[in-house]
Amino acid sequence: MSLGLDDVVAAETVLSHVDGEAGRLIVRGFDLEDIAGLSFEAMCVLLWDGLVSGPLGEGAVKAALGAARVRAFAIGEPLLPQTAGLSPVEGLRLLLSALPDRETIPHHVLAVAAVPVFAAMVVRYSQGLKPVPPDSAAGHVADFLAMVRGSKPSTQHARALETYIVTVADHGLNASTFTARVIASTRAGLLSAVVGALCALKGPLHGGAPGPVLDMLDEIGSEANIEPWLETAIARGDRLMGFGHRVYRVRDPRAEVLKRVAVDLRGQSNRLHFAEAIEAAALRLLAKRKTARRLETNVEFYTALVLEALELPREAFTAVFAVGRVLGWSAHVLEQEVGGRIIRPQSRYIGPTPKQAA
Ligand code: ACO
Repeated sequence: MSLGLDDVVAAETVLSHVDGEAGRLIVRGFDLEDIAGLSFEAMCVLLWDGLVSGPLGEGAVKAALGAARVRAFAIGEPLLPQTAGLSPVEGLRLLLSALPDRETIPHHVLAVAAVPVFAAMVVRYSQGLKPVPPDSAAGHVADFLAMVRGSKPSTQHARALETYIVTVADHGLNASTFTARVIASTRAGLLSAVVGALCALKGPLHGGAPGPVLDMLDEIGSEANIEPWLETAIARGDRLMGFGHRVYRVRDPRAEVLKRVAVDLRGQSNRLHFAEAIEAAALRLLAKRKTARRLETNVEFYTALVLEALELPREAFTAVFAVGRVLGWSAHVLEQEVGGRIIRPQSRYIGPTPKQAA
């Protein structure tokens, strides 16, 4: 028995496969490196193909998402004051749970459209700024950046964020996707599954890591402090954010893609060199101190540098992750709803047994 369900197969999927030994992520028959440059709308076509009825093309998806973003804005804006005092991911959780099951827009489209609209409005609200309505004619990811920042992003910035969003869209049966499939297996509906999945994503061991990666960079502060800081943290039993993975035993291929994006965005910035020095030292020390398990850089390390270069606030990073991952959740829910049985494993009882009546 494994308490973390390591190596347990709990679903069959045509969507994606993580080969942890080879450091390979396959999405719908393509290596990640070959599809990371797709538009978000094309990624929707790839992941939803065969799971939804009606014609599915990039243009149709763009129009449907644009209209659904407008609808989501109308639902979310009046509720914004209720997010006062919440972090962006908590605010996103609140607004997503307000999406009604009776909504006639297909729920996979509504969920994928609503996450960036709600994420952008809660980020701005937490900064005391008014929400920016969506532009239904814009590309999905560029519109998200415009809604967060309040101005149209440069093509370079929009493409950088799109590469990140596409890169993290799906990743096998990770904790949040498993959560979504468990909820979908009870026929609770896609919108409920997405709310539950976001709750799982929020944790620092899953989608909550990139903000703390930047906190780590700040705390280390200087080149001279890298080794002593990391040594102390590892000796204390801390987990270094942005390192380690349940499935990968080699470098996470998404880290490679995102490092290239970070290099494009940051040029020769000191912060990038500093991060590279921390990465090298962390890998060296983890190999020395944690001999039972090979620990490598995961997706969150360079995610942090990309999102920082895009001037997104670090407390919003998990919500930004959800802008991409909601696509994977939606596809897994659709797949689960077609062929899946209710997911209902067993637990092993280790408590006391009742005393026999005399
Ligand atoms: N830093 C230091 N030690 C680590 C790290 C780390 N980042 N990751 C694992 N370890 C150690 C554990 O302490 C343990 O050592 P021990 O045997 O001496 O106690 C050993 O490696 C095995 O750890 P497990 O708990 O079995 O690893 P698991 O597969 O459960 O955890 C996880 C995977 C949660 C990703 C872990 O590596 C971690 O906490 N990483 C840091 C947080 C992070 O970056 N999360 C993002 C992951 S990517 C994503 O979800 C999108």
